[in-house]
Amino acid sequence: MAKHLRRGLVALSLLVMPAAPMLAQERESPQVATASEVDLDALLARMTTAEKVGQLVQRMGGRQRALNSRLGPDELDRVRRGEVGSYLHVAGAEPLRELQRVAVEESRLGIPLLFAMDVVHGYRTIFPVPLAMAATWDPEAAESHARIAAREASAAGLHWTFAPMVDVARDPRWGRIVEGAGEDPFLGAAMAAAQVRGFQGSDLSAADTIMAGTKHFGAYGAAEGGRDYAGADLSERTLRETYLPPFEAAARAGTASFMTAFNALGGVPTTGNAALLRGVLRGEWGYDGVLLSDWHAIEELMAHGVAGDRVAAARLALEAGVDMDMVSDVYGQDLLASVEADPALMAQLDEAVMRILKAKRDLGLFTDPYKYHDASREAAVMLSPEHRAEARRIAERSIVLLKNEGDVLPLAKSAGRIALIGALADDARSQLGSWRARGVEEDVVTLRAALEAAHRGVAFVRGADSRSSETGGIAEAVAAAQGADLVVMALGEDFDWSGEARSRSSLELPGAQRELFEAVAATGKPIVVVLMGGRPLAIPEVAEKADAVLATWLLGDEAGPAVVRTLFGDANPAGRLPASFPRTTGQVPYTYDHLPSGRPADPDLAKDTARYMDLPIIPLYGFGYGLSYTTFAYGPLAVDQAIIPADGGRVTVSVPVTNTGARPGDEVVQLYMRDPVASVSRPVQQLRGFRRVALEPGETRVVTFTLDAAHFAFWGQNGGWVVEPGIIELSVGGASDAIHGRTDITLVGQGRGRASPASTPVESSDRPAG
Ligand code: BGC
Repeated sequence: MAKHLRRGLVALSLLVMPAAPMLAQERESPQVATASEVDLDALLARMTTAEKVGQLVQRMGGRQRALNSRLGPDELDRVRRGEVGSYLHVAGAEPLRELQRVAVEESRLGIPLLFAMDVVHGYRTIFPVPLAMAATWDPEAAESHARIAAREASAAGLHWTFAPMVDVARDPRWGRIVEGAGEDPFLGAAMAAAQVRGFQGSDLSAADTIMAGTKHFGAYGAAEGGRDYAGADLSERTLRETYLPPFEAAARAGTASFMTAFNALGGVPTTGNAALLRGVLRGEWGYDGVLLSDWHAIEELMAHGVAGDRVAAARLALEAGVDMDMVSDVYGQDLLASVEADPALMAQLDEAVMRILKAKRDLGLFTDPYKYHDASREAAVMLSPEHRAEARRIAERSIVLLKNEGDVLPLAKSAGRIALIGALADDARSQLGSWRARGVEEDVVTLRAALEAAHRGVAFVRGADSRSSETGGIAEAVAAAQGADLVVMALGEDFDWSGEARSRSSLELPGAQRELFEAVAATGKPIVVVLMGGRPLAIPEVAEKADAVLATWLLGDEAGPAVVRTLFGDANPAGRLPASFPRTTGQVPYTYDHLPSGRPADPDLAKDTARYMDLPIIPLYGFGYGLSYTTFAYGPLAVDQAIIPADGGRVTVSVPVTNTGARPGDEVVQLYMRDPVASVSRPVQQLRGFRRVALEPGETRVVTFTLDAAHFAFWGQNGGWVVEPGIIELSVGGASDAIHGRTDITLVGQGRGRASPASTPVESSDRPAG
């Protein structure tokens, strides 16, 4: 047995020994404990109150951009004294092995540490930002990305990621929309569960899986005005039906941890919100994993005005059910006093400690604390060719074709001279997105590099960037356009316009890009816009004047090749918008699943209806929208039975879909429902199924969805998921605003659902027609 492992097990032997104080030199008779044998109750019984508090403390081992930088002698002493349960912003198989060694061999109880980091869309191999991954409408792609991210992160000594971020975001002014799956709870729930499965695999104790940290529990995405950290004020129904389902899906998928939101909900900061944390999460959903605060969020309970001092903040968070304190050290410094003054808190402290110990046990750390510290594995897995290939495949699947007038795309290989305009085309850093983990710019293949490699006769001109209003480069860009046969323009937002604390009051192209676009458009040359960035933008001028528009988000290491293969038709775009693109900032928030109004929007301004006077009713590009280089036709929508019991009924919905064009392509078949008459007003549409189907030219496949009556439930006036009798309208199409078939079913009797319908997966399949 390796020496390090044997030493770790020496400490571990304490867990199966009687409860008596023991000095390090007294440790002997190493015993191998298997995960199931580790006696956590015995361990808890041996812990002092200070050691218990220590398990609840997560400290920063460095900064996001300077990992491990704080791991000096003082920090190691804290570990020896048992004052730390976990570190974040740390990485590296070897440095973390040493830190783990100190915990396991030199602290009194030898309890291993948890090492965590934000691995949100890749560790070293960087994948598309999460909003882009949601645009794949392919949960398997999201799962695959998380699997690879876990393989790389675990090889670097990490046990835990703070992902997936599953906050539903319906206001693109909120910069963190980039981190999640967009505006819809059903799509968001599917992406959430898929990523949990990918990070955790089927066995958390395997050396290449890590704990998911689903965040930011509550209604962080509903921050007022899209201002990050601002409070949310929601009806119970909206909270349950729209914001909580992705969390519920993650809980059901077995996420090992949740993180609380920074913001308040209805005036109660989430980190001290017992009704939400103990009531809904732990009580109703039966969730018994780790609950972690966000960064300093326990201390911020004072700024929120619900705790007068740190002692009160510590108490409030513990009572609400928060197990671990991310970096504010309020638990570390002030919880002990509270518990000593009020022994009634001891039970809650014990519960929190136990959940953290169980996580360590489930990871297998008590059995082998060094299993995540194999430097040769670390060297071998990073950025492997397979990981890069998967990053490119997923990047291609993320691209959404928004416009393609006159079939300007795909470009012929003999496309002639191309003027590539826009600083973003050459901006490697931006493709790494807002959470780059250990991604490095040198690994990114930019649009410029990929286009120059693929095509002779590319002239690149920056023109203008998204940071400055400097218009000096526009003349050169116009000249380049005039000398070219075709213009490819990279426009949008760089990485630093979206993400945490990156709220915007305007959703227009930032900097001088609008002027740049107008000047280049005035040349009359064909223009393909490659729209980059981490949020939906208001780009009516681009939508009108460009010949083609591809939404390419921030696609990670393989951004350039993915875009270039799409431009030339080696890949056929099939991404669909996970969030609506507004016409103007004043149109947000807007969602496809809004409630009907007593006066539905009417284009006739002479009528007083629910619309703006100065804007068309609908968004520029709606939820679920995206074009293809081929075309699809839908056959009739059929159900296997038209009448089903509201209590326990099931219905299978099917529709044939044909590729009617000349190229292979994927269609994202989307199933929507509406309950037209109920005891409460119901949304005009709600997504209840989707399936991305690959079709050869001329091929027809029948796509099938099987739903339970409980998928038609809503949050009733007296609480609970109710299924009422009456008609349910079903519709199917290629976007929320491209519906190709409709039918009705009738529910009879009354039913109840156990979980939010949007969090509950719908079975789907596809098979050849005939
Ligand atoms: C963010 C979290 C993140 C944490 C640790 C916070 O500011 O809100 O999403 O996991 O920092 O980096």
